[in-house]
Amino acid sequence: MTQPSAILDRLLVLEMVRVTEAAAMSAAKLIGRGDEKAADAAAVEAMRAALNELKMAGTVVIGEGERDEAPMLFIGEKVGRWTKKSPRTDIALDPLEGTTITAKAGANALAVLAVAEEGNLLNAPDVYMDKIAVGPGYSPDIIDLEKSPQENVKAVAKEKGVDPSEIIVCVLDRPRHAKLIEELRALGCGIMLIPDGDVAGVIATTDPDTTVDLYMGSGGAPEGVLAAAALRCVGGQFKGRLLFRNDDERARARKWGIEDLDKIYDLTELAKGDCIFAATGVTHGSLLEGVKNLRGGKVTTESVVMRASSGTVRWVRSEHRRKK
Ligand code: FBP
Repeated sequence: MTQPSAILDRLLVLEMVRVTEAAAMSAAKLIGRGDEKAADAAAVEAMRAALNELKMAGTVVIGEGERDEAPMLFIGEKVGRWTKKSPRTDIALDPLEGTTITAKAGANALAVLAVAEEGNLLNAPDVYMDKIAVGPGYSPDIIDLEKSPQENVKAVAKEKGVDPSEIIVCVLDRPRHAKLIEELRALGCGIMLIPDGDVAGVIATTDPDTTVDLYMGSGGAPEGVLAAAALRCVGGQFKGRLLFRNDDERARARKWGIEDLDKIYDLTELAKGDCIFAATGVTHGSLLEGVKNLRGGKVTTESVVMRASSGTVRWVRSEHRRKK
């Protein structure tokens, strides 16, 4: 049982939603405009402004990149009001998870934020992470990155009481996943190939409506920490191992204090203690509706905000006045 954090008690859960809503609405103005960078920049600027309104002393631990590569929301940037009494927090964010999706008006782009007490979110370098996730209700450690994809599928199928061929696995559609896909096809599994957006892909395992049982494959390590924070709140299991393509990436990891480069991280090592996770849909998706412009100058957003200690999941549908 996760103990509630008195520090997070002082942060209004709904204020987190205000932050993701602001990012989503700004990015939404660029849906389908073919400009990934502009959509991302709009989301970043809006999220930063909204974060800086909050009465907290936040440090970005998962952000837009290192200081020399990201002008805003870089790793280490201080956000919030930073008054004497402000609670110290770690912030993991992705103002626009799914920049290409947004540029092409595809599904499942999100504005995402996770907050925990200082020191509780893994400072993951911007490298790839091998990931496996399963929804709630299974025996502890049913998934294992040391085991083959087929062994993992068989273990989950056995507990679910179905044949392995009935298991649906969500995988990012990338050439690097050819072998994984071949192994899953050999079992007859259903594979939901997604073009981008593995935070939504991992969360999909927790919602029976999506039909997704497992998430497998490699994607961004920062997205892995965000997805882990979400699963800490809503239930489910996640394991991740950092993947390094060269010495520069290994050096980056060491710089952030990671000594064991082969470590397999469990959910609670990526996001420790109590945490709050918030997301707002930018484009329509399996988890959330996207931003919609209505007649009469109104804009609607759909968000989810959840907390690890209480397990409360709040769905928030908001109506806003359209801003120029
Ligand atoms: P962006 O929003 O930064 O474009 O990331 C989208 C994403 O699909 C993530 O969800 C995923 O973790 C990562 O990119 C995968 O990286 P790659 O495109 O290099 O395979």
